[in-house]
Amino acid sequence: MDSKEEEVETINGAPEEQPLSKKQRKKLEKRQKFLEMKKNLREKERAKRKLKKIQLKEQGIKIEGPSRKQLKRNKADIESASFQIAIDLSFDEFMAEKDLSSLCSQLLRIYTANRRAKKPIPIHFTGLKEDTRMYQQLEKNEGWKHWDVMANDKSYSEIFDKDKIVYLTSESENVLDKFEDGHCYVIGGIVDHNSQKGLTLDLAEKQGIKTARLPLSEYVSITSRSVLTVNQCFEILLGVSEGKSWKEILMEVLPQRKMPKLKTQVSDES
Ligand SMILES: C[S@@+](CC[C@H](N)C(=O)[O-])C[C@H]1O[C@@H](n2cnc3c(N)ncnc32)[C@H](O)[C@@H]1O
Repeated sequence: MDSKEEEVETINGAPEEQPLSKKQRKKLEKRQKFLEMKKNLREKERAKRKLKKIQLKEQGIKIEGPSRKQLKRNKADIESASFQIAIDLSFDEFMAEKDLSSLCSQLLRIYTANRRAKKPIPIHFTGLKEDTRMYQQLEKNEGWKHWDVMANDKSYSEIFDKDKIVYLTSESENVLDKFEDGHCYVIGGIVDHNSQKGLTLDLAEKQGIKTARLPLSEYVSITSRSVLTVNQCFEILLGVSEGKSWKEILMEVLPQRKMPKLKTQVSDES
């Protein structure tokens, strides 16, 4: 094969009209190596898990928690859900590549926490357009299309009645105390290191959509800002939907470095 022919290699090995440049080919090789390594690692981990399971069984130890099969079957049910959650993924332009990657990890945590819940909440990824960097980030995670989430390029306001939407934002004057039936609670899908203050509040107000903040200061004293990450916000909502009290779930989810302390004057019922 002469050097010219070599240049015509393509992603799937099939001939393509546009030959790859040297740089593109190097990038492709690097990606293929990475995928191969990932596959090997996964296989190793799978084998390790299997071995551990056998060893535990031999020792007569029962494995706690749901099996992978059970987890797969544990899906959200829109019909019986009292409320739904939308994660607004329309903030591409406000994020650098590493923020998008961090947001992607947060989305993975959300999906994982939800599938382990007693009653998973229906989750929508809204405003997710295919030509965005956010979409490309998600695509890096091969399995994301099998997640139990409803991905849509439409906005939450095109999916739900406007008067049944509450945009969650730390800057709202309204405090969320309980979930209302049939409502959709929107979380801003953004990692902004506090550089976009008031972004979601302005957005919701311009659209005439209700807003609410989580009742952090009502139950805990924290040392830093009350702006949470997307997954922390979700995990708090999930905890409350499963019957935990606000203070219980806040103490569980808020990071230690924020040093949450319970406010003593708040009654135990809350
Ligand atoms: C990292 S924050 C984004 C902050 C961003 N500057 C903004 O304007 O929303 C990610 C999202 O989590 C939710 N969130 C974070 N802290 C919250 C709080 N204290 N109350 C309600 N929602 C909160 C909001 O939906 C927010 O958009």
